[in-house]
Amino acid sequence: MNIGFIGCGIISMAHLEGLEELKRANLKTFDLTAVCDLNEKRANAFAANAEERLGKRPKVYTDYKKMIAEEPLDAASVLLDHDLHHIVAEDCFAAGIHVQMQKPLAISPFYGRKILADAKKYDRILTVSEPSVLGAENIAMARAIKDGIIGPVHLLMDYATVTLNRAFFAGTAWRHFKGRAGAGWINDHGVHRTQMFTEVNGPIREVFAYTEIFEKELTDGKTTIRPTGEDTSVTVFRFDNGGLGHWMCSTAAHGESAGGVWIYGSNGCFRPGKHIALGNGQIIPIADVIKQYAPEAAAHPFAHSYVELWEAITDRKTPISSGERGFEALCIVFAALESALIGQPVKVREVMDGVRHSYEDTVVNEMIPDRR
Ligand SMILES: NC(=O)c1ccc[n+]([C@@H]2O[C@H](COP(=O)([O-])OP(=O)(O)OC[C@H]3O[C@@H](n4cnc5c(N)ncnc54)[C@H](O)[C@@H]3O)[C@@H](O)[C@H]2O)c1
Repeated sequence: MNIGFIGCGIISMAHLEGLEELKRANLKTFDLTAVCDLNEKRANAFAANAEERLGKRPKVYTDYKKMIAEEPLDAASVLLDHDLHHIVAEDCFAAGIHVQMQKPLAISPFYGRKILADAKKYDRILTVSEPSVLGAENIAMARAIKDGIIGPVHLLMDYATVTLNRAFFAGTAWRHFKGRAGAGWINDHGVHRTQMFTEVNGPIREVFAYTEIFEKELTDGKTTIRPTGEDTSVTVFRFDNGGLGHWMCSTAAHGESAGGVWIYGSNGCFRPGKHIALGNGQIIPIADVIKQYAPEAAAHPFAHSYVELWEAITDRKTPISSGERGFEALCIVFAALESALIGQPVKVREVMDGVRHSYEDTVVNEMIPDRR
């Protein structure tokens, strides 16, 4: 099957590596036949890199509508700013093209619901390339926890702070405006985490949060902006199964960053990326967990995302990282944002159903009008 990439920015390289891993392993994989970016130089450089890694130069476009009209594509990977996801997804579905969307599924829950509805309307496959639940290591973690390796999960803690020194995250100014990115880092980074939380321990029922914009100005030395997306959030939540969570993230840390996830069950602690520490003193390395629980899965999360997309198209297999799961992850983030705005705990279900949307309204107000 043929695939086109729409957007050749930062993350597109990791996707190229994913396709390369599948090719190297001699697995069925998409032919990258076309790429598109508004920035022609970037698109050409990306196409040259693709030729080196995959052996074939994809055709270059600067207008994605032209690309999807002219190219015989089976699927497209949408690698664009969050406020474009719902627009480009609909154009692809309407052209008969299946879509792999980047996280977050959409800029806000309203647009997430729209993407899910459009996939149904045009009967096309939608997957979300969410690396926190894909790839052998993450698959093994979720399976091991569901298998009871640490016992029922009582508490999950997730801390992530980065030291931007008042510059732009990933060099991109758009990420700091809620009208372009839905919120601050709590959305961009947050959906990785909320999808992982629910993958390992089921739905989250209720969230309470405080959020803040501590850094009023950011600059890359050429442009100075006044961010409207939160740079810091502190959140507590409760899972449906009674487990509790504490999750915080900040791009306004200085001097030293922090990062780590601890998943505590009644018999031990799972440290993603590290090991399992059991109450009896036994340490199980992640490599052993992978060997036992996910020996068949592709190691690279983005390679896995293309396996999921392929199998969803050919066998109608339900992907682990489905549009619906991406929507739920987005709604947990928006429950936190809603809570911080109204000063009360918020039920995730109410955000999913569109009953609570005060925070989301502030996002829509700030969006570029022709992207609403
Ligand atoms: N680990 C991950 O899963 C991960 C990491 C980074 C980014 N992402 C996601 O990938 C998406 C893109 O992020 P990024 O960091 O690559 O951003 P980026 O700004 O580096 O890249 C976006 C690219 O899209 C191009 N573009 C913008 N509008 C376009 C249009 N109308 N037509 C064609 N090209 C257009 C830009 O020129 C740019 O090259 C975001 O949704 C982000 O959340 C996911």
